[in-house]
Amino acid sequence: MPYKIEVPRELAASHARHSGDAGRAWIEALPDLAASFLDRWDLTPDGVPSYGVVSLVIPVRRAGGGRAALKLQPANEENDGEPVGLRAWAGAGAVLLLDADPATGTLLLERLDPDRSLATLPDGAEAVRILAGLLARLTALPAPPGLRRLADVAAAMPSTARRALPGLADPEERRLAHVCVSAVRDLLPEPGDRLLHWDLHYGNVLAGEREPWLAIDPKPLAGDPGFDLMPALWNRWDEVVASGDVARAVRARFDLMTETLGLDRRRAAGWTLGRVLQNTLWDLAGGAHRMGPAQRAIGEVMRPLWGP
Ligand SMILES: Nc1ncnc2c1ncn2[C@@H]1O[C@H](COP(=O)(O)OP(=O)(O)O)[C@@H](O)[C@H]1O
Ligand SMILES: [Mg+2]
Repeated sequence: MPYKIEVPRELAASHARHSGDAGRAWIEALPDLAASFLDRWDLTPDGVPSYGVVSLVIPVRRAGGGRAALKLQPANEENDGEPVGLRAWAGAGAVLLLDADPATGTLLLERLDPDRSLATLPDGAEAVRILAGLLARLTALPAPPGLRRLADVAAAMPSTARRALPGLADPEERRLAHVCVSAVRDLLPEPGDRLLHWDLHYGNVLAGEREPWLAIDPKPLAGDPGFDLMPALWNRWDEVVASGDVARAVRARFDLMTETLGLDRRRAAGWTLGRVLQNTLWDLAGGAHRMGPAQRAIGEVMRPLWGP
């Protein structure tokens, strides 16, 4: 009997919410997609699937018995660089890519522990240190050709901001967002050329065997490593708040990251303001009228580090 996966209800809901009819159609076709790749790559299901906001990941065994993970996700601009980035890292600090089908966005990956990520590590400070160490290794490589470029992403921001920022209800937040725009403009002539992950938050670092911790789920971008700090700053945010001094806790994370990556603090602060702007523009496009509290707090800490 052909293998029939059960599509997690939450994953179906998330696709419908984010992609409407196209999302529902992808979910409907997902069982056949899974079956066709199990067949094509000669894989046997080997446990309970995991899922994120976008992907379904099925633990599998390969023909020779080796353990792997089959990642199913719709092919789109967001993730078409994923196999390119993973191939460039070749397993050093990141999950190994075993096979890929760019037409459907499907990947065969080295098996990691789906339930043990840096998001579940009890010691938050240790999680930040491990993440910083990984990010330093990942962003040390030059970006291979064919990836999206921070140069283009950043160049598009000022004009999008001009249209969208009047939608911010709070004048203080508008002022802060304009500081972000001017930082992006100033940094545009030097966008950098390293291989960035773009989404290295704690949940995207899983426990492995080859290395204790490995990055998954990159959205690779060619650019300045300063642009890659934000996910480490604003995730595990409850711990920043619980510290009782948000500004100090953000600065401590930022200092640790910039020291570990060997970055110029001012430039890194400027690119982080660029991420505050990017996140705010995404939120505004999604119907929000305020900055996220973490985005605002991080923006306020970065502002004096960037300059007057
Ligand atoms: N290589 C892997 N081995 C085992 N489990 C994995 C692997 N990659 C991802 N997973 C599991 O699937 C989940 C979603 O994967 P992820 O690549 O982060 O997709 P999304 O884009 O949906 O966030 C992860 O949180 C993890 O539980
Ligand atoms: Mg993920």
